[in-house]
Amino acid sequence: MKNKGIKYKGIIFDLDGVITDTAEYHYLAWKKLADELNIYFDRKINENLKGVSRLESLEIILKNSDKVFSDEEKHYLADKKNDYYKEMIKKITPQDILPGVCDLINNLKEREIKIAVASVSKNAKTVLDNLGLLDSFDYIVDAEKIKNGKPDPEIFLNAADGIKVEPCCCIGIEDSKAGIEAINRAGMLSVGVGNPETVEEADIILKDLSNPSDLLNLI
Ligand code: BG6
Ligand code: MG
Repeated sequence: MKNKGIKYKGIIFDLDGVITDTAEYHYLAWKKLADELNIYFDRKINENLKGVSRLESLEIILKNSDKVFSDEEKHYLADKKNDYYKEMIKKITPQDILPGVCDLINNLKEREIKIAVASVSKNAKTVLDNLGLLDSFDYIVDAEKIKNGKPDPEIFLNAADGIKVEPCCCIGIEDSKAGIEAINRAGMLSVGVGNPETVEEADIILKDLSNPSDLLNLI
């Protein structure tokens, strides 16, 4: 296995689709916009949007349209999607934390493992706040702190720096193809959750985090 013999001291979580099912809300908000624009969009295309910034996601959706949009129109459309998304995440509560995640966080804290969130979402802090998790992590890196989105390793390297753990001693958890590539390029152990095809490049693939010992056994 990669980084054999390494003692892992930090775990870096993606947010959307890992800690909570906001990946579904991103899909539903894009679907609403695409339907309004009469552009074909389905869950298969959506897999390529996971982990990708808002404007890059829009560009992927517009590949299925013959219409040409100006930069101003693209910003308007991205804002419109974000308005739909913000409406959806208003109803998020701590009940929406995915199974096993709280247990895992508590176990990692007991073992003095540093934990961080690495999300390219500009809504990451609102989602964490609604989940009641804003103060649970040692460090949070979101779109504000980075220049390059996933699959660039910058966001995971920034997180490792934030928790003061060498990248090779970190485990990254992701549900997106771009995110797994970012973790691998950062030299960390990658754990993929969710759609196994999407995260096929991960070192370890799990269905979800409902069994905390799947991860605790790696430490
Ligand atoms: C990522 C999601 O976490 O954040 C992507 O996986 C999303 O689907 C991206 O496009 C940007 O999010 P936001 O909230 O800034 O539009
Ligand atoms: Mg994600």
